[in-house]
Amino acid sequence: MRPKIKIVSLGGTISMRSEGAGLNPALGAEALAADLARRTPQVELIRQDLGRVASANLDLALVNRLSGLIAGFAAEGGRGVIVTQGTDTLEETAFLTELLGTPALPVAFTGAMRGASADSPDGPANLADALAFVTSPSAGAEVVVVMNGQVHAARHAQKTDTTALDAFSSRSHAPRGRLHEGRFIALRPPFPPLPSVGPRRGDASPRVWIATIGLDMDETLFTLGEDAGPDGWVIAALGAGHVPEKLAPVLGRLARKAPVVLCSRTGGMVCERTYGYAGAEIDLLSRGLLAGGSLSPAKARVALLALLGDGRGDVARRFAELAARVRDETSPDTRPSPLETASP
Ligand code: SIN
Repeated sequence: MRPKIKIVSLGGTISMRSEGAGLNPALGAEALAADLARRTPQVELIRQDLGRVASANLDLALVNRLSGLIAGFAAEGGRGVIVTQGTDTLEETAFLTELLGTPALPVAFTGAMRGASADSPDGPANLADALAFVTSPSAGAEVVVVMNGQVHAARHAQKTDTTALDAFSSRSHAPRGRLHEGRFIALRPPFPPLPSVGPRRGDASPRVWIATIGLDMDETLFTLGEDAGPDGWVIAALGAGHVPEKLAPVLGRLARKAPVVLCSRTGGMVCERTYGYAGAEIDLLSRGLLAGGSLSPAKARVALLALLGDGRGDVARRFAELAARVRDETSPDTRPSPLETASP
């Protein structure tokens, strides 16, 4: 029997054609994978549309449906799932899918930086690479992002350019692998599963706001936020996790009411014990902010949404554990060296 692979299409540039007023979603899964299905009769490509929208119009309810669909397909004996969608929020949906439960089969998210009507679209190559990944014996039960011949763990993938073909990277981490002559080459083993997040309870979505810090920013946004009372905040701070000194007290007050995660607006890893001045990471963490580790602000936000939404509580502790797990996968062995242990 041929292995069954499901391709789920959500829309995005990979599905878009330019017809008059710029790019708009046009193709469904059937059309997107028609050529690929002809070229790969060894597998059964089951194609399904779950949406035909741009990234900006995807929502959490759809990601929940997607996660249920993946679990159902795995239970039916499916071999792998490919999700095609817009690249603008791909790093969030892929990570959220992983958080909602490590699937029992390989799942590859992919998209395109050029529309389907472009002279040299990258979508077909990305789709073929995603198929090579999910059918590879080296692919585990894991969620990855396949773009431009590279494979990134969903927990690490970030979009770092608006139009470049190599817009995605694993940022502070090593990529999971690459494609070579149509074959997946693993550069490191699959990452271990993350701590589990339960299914979303109820229909109401928690509100988690991202605030990006800029030069000499004042407190107004945060004092207004104290009244508006979101369920959580992500601070996209300067550099290694820094804010103007005058913002530190209000951020500390916010952290006493709701989880406030400290990330870097660079998308890189925040520090926890390097800078000692007021408004730097040591000060902010001592005021109750949570270190985002290597999570980008967008990823930290979906992690908070997932943890707040499952009704299990203990959000701060669970977030800290999750962020530390993702961060410490940077090196193969992250046990503290003797130099890091406090002197007697
Ligand atoms: C979108 O995110 O839907 C547009 C951009 C893209 O797909 O690359």
